[in-house]
Amino acid sequence: MTAERIDGKAFAAALRARVAERVPVFEAATGRVPGLAVVLVGEDAASQVYVRSKGKATREAGMVSFEHRLPDDTSQAELIALVEALGADDKVDGILVQLPLPPQIDEKAVIAAIDPAKDVDGFTLENAGRLAVGEAGLVPCTPLGCLMLLKDRLGDLAGLEAVVIGRSNIVGKPMAQLLLRESCTVTIAHSRTRDLPGVVRRADIVVAAVGRPEMVKGGWLKPGATVIDVGINRVEGRLVGDVDSASASAVAAAITPVPGGVGPMTIAILLRNTLVTAHARAGLEAPEGL
Ligand code: GUN
Repeated sequence: MTAERIDGKAFAAALRARVAERVPVFEAATGRVPGLAVVLVGEDAASQVYVRSKGKATREAGMVSFEHRLPDDTSQAELIALVEALGADDKVDGILVQLPLPPQIDEKAVIAAIDPAKDVDGFTLENAGRLAVGEAGLVPCTPLGCLMLLKDRLGDLAGLEAVVIGRSNIVGKPMAQLLLRESCTVTIAHSRTRDLPGVVRRADIVVAAVGRPEMVKGGWLKPGATVIDVGINRVEGRLVGDVDSASASAVAAAITPVPGGVGPMTIAILLRNTLVTAHARAGLEAPEGL
């Protein structure tokens, strides 16, 4: 058996097109287009690439991109002052502070300064808490993108066994909450999990978000599993995921490729979340079908 490839790139392009279609409708109702502010501190190479792609995608959707690049030695107080100013700026509907931040800055303090109504990353305690208790709120982009791919492929997820490998606040934990909300039986595995292959073997759905190149082997999988590979690792100039795609493809029913799987979904959801916050801030009903 060769697993079907889950085409995140095509799904993301369609979602971005649906978002772009709504922008003129929003503009007609409010006299302005949605705005997304992206803040980058320092010179991290990967972050620079991400921030550039986010700005480009924002403009391609017809929205305004406000880009703030600050030097590596920016103080926590300066960054918080900027985040608060963006919170007070009516043209800004979404605020994204690219992580990681330089060591002199406490990420938690910066996230706490983000207006929860503009928190398009879903990182504030307010939005993380809403997800945890099952109330409507803003959900982190990468896990929401993974969930959309899963629902598109599998339909109703209720009762399925899902194993999330990785417990980060950006992916693992919110992913587990989303799958629980869909009535999956959810296990969060991590670096201290005993017998990880045995745990993964139970799963109808595997979401790998550990940041270890090709760690999950085909032999660990239940035949017919659906595998979402969140990993992006550079190994000898090549991009590979957290799943060993060669061996996994022989066992799984479907798998996301790296690149071209989860990655493009993250930016598409960011635009979607920005459209959602823009509507909420303008007192308009949430756009449907996104
Ligand atoms: N760094 C890696 N992924 C992300 C993300 O989704 N949002 C932000 N703000 N920083 C990141």
